[in-house]
Amino acid sequence: MIRSVILGTGSALPASRVSNAQLAERVDTSDDWIVERTGIRFRHIAGDGETTATLAADAARAAIAAAGIDAGDIDLIVLATATPDQTFPATATKVQAMLGINDCVAFDVAAVCSGFLYAVQVVDSMIRSGVAKRALVIGAETFSRILDWEDRTTCVLFGDGAGAIVLAAQDSADADGRGILATRLHADGRHNDLLYVDGGPSTTGTVGKLRMKGREVFRHAVVNLASVMTETLALAGLTSDDVDWVVPHQANARILDATARKLGLAPEKVVVTVDIHANTSAASVPLALDVAVRDGRVKQGDIVVLEAMGGGFTWGAAIVRF
Ligand code: UT7
Repeated sequence: MIRSVILGTGSALPASRVSNAQLAERVDTSDDWIVERTGIRFRHIAGDGETTATLAADAARAAIAAAGIDAGDIDLIVLATATPDQTFPATATKVQAMLGINDCVAFDVAAVCSGFLYAVQVVDSMIRSGVAKRALVIGAETFSRILDWEDRTTCVLFGDGAGAIVLAAQDSADADGRGILATRLHADGRHNDLLYVDGGPSTTGTVGKLRMKGREVFRHAVVNLASVMTETLALAGLTSDDVDWVVPHQANARILDATARKLGLAPEKVVVTVDIHANTSAASVPLALDVAVRDGRVKQGDIVVLEAMGGGFTWGAAIVRF
């Protein structure tokens, strides 16, 4: 049996880091409000020359180096983003060119904040069916470019960045129990109006700005995330007692606390980066994973739960033995 094993992780952030106090100079908000309601203290904002593709390529290079392989070994690139460089072609093909890979499969996945989980399930399926052997799975976003900087209810919440993993096919006999053990995805398109962008190529002919009814999204997030984690752990034949680390989508510290409590997980097992990255949509899970791998928390053999929920609504989880 073939398993998809994580060989390496990487991430990239824009050079400019913006504090809550700096934001409070532009909009009617305060460090106290943002920290108390969200846990966010800083976010990185892309500057001139920094795009979703450049951040994605930097994260991919770091993941390839950590995996100890060459870019030429990659035969599949799937990039999750809601902020592509262009309406088309796929940003994944731009990243492919930046990495100097002349022929591989490359495409984008659009599932907003759950995009990385969607990409993981797609790539895992392609690896296990024998279509791909060494794949880059990337989450990369420049949400700063679709924010309404006059709207204090949304503009303080998001940041830019990218995270990547290399997933490789390994015979389960040689994988030592490692690999993606289970994935589960959901979508419910009835909730489009709670979190969306008010523009698009086929409607307004513009890029549009992000709009969110935060309180309603919050309520759905806690219920959906706790339920999909329980469901995915059961698919893997595990319980919350088996979990070493949860690497959640980083939208709000209060959502992380509430979902961990619902599952009876100790807060120390939850990787938190929302304080330093804010919500980076599809990038947030692989960014947080890379932080926890590089600081030595997540180690080979650990059971790690990845989860996310976002616009659509879409939501999902993956259980990995790292
Ligand atoms: O990534 C996709 C998933 N996204 C999420 O999961 C986001 C989920 N939602 C949330 O994280 C929270 O709902 C928010 C952080 C967006 C908002 O927190 P909240 O506790 O639900 O606040 P609220 O929207 O109920 O607003 C409370 C008050 C309002 O004032 P009034 O009407 O009570 O007088 C807002 O106008 O806070 C006010 N407010 C602000 N005040 C200072 C809203 N934004 C700000 C701000 N600074 N930036």
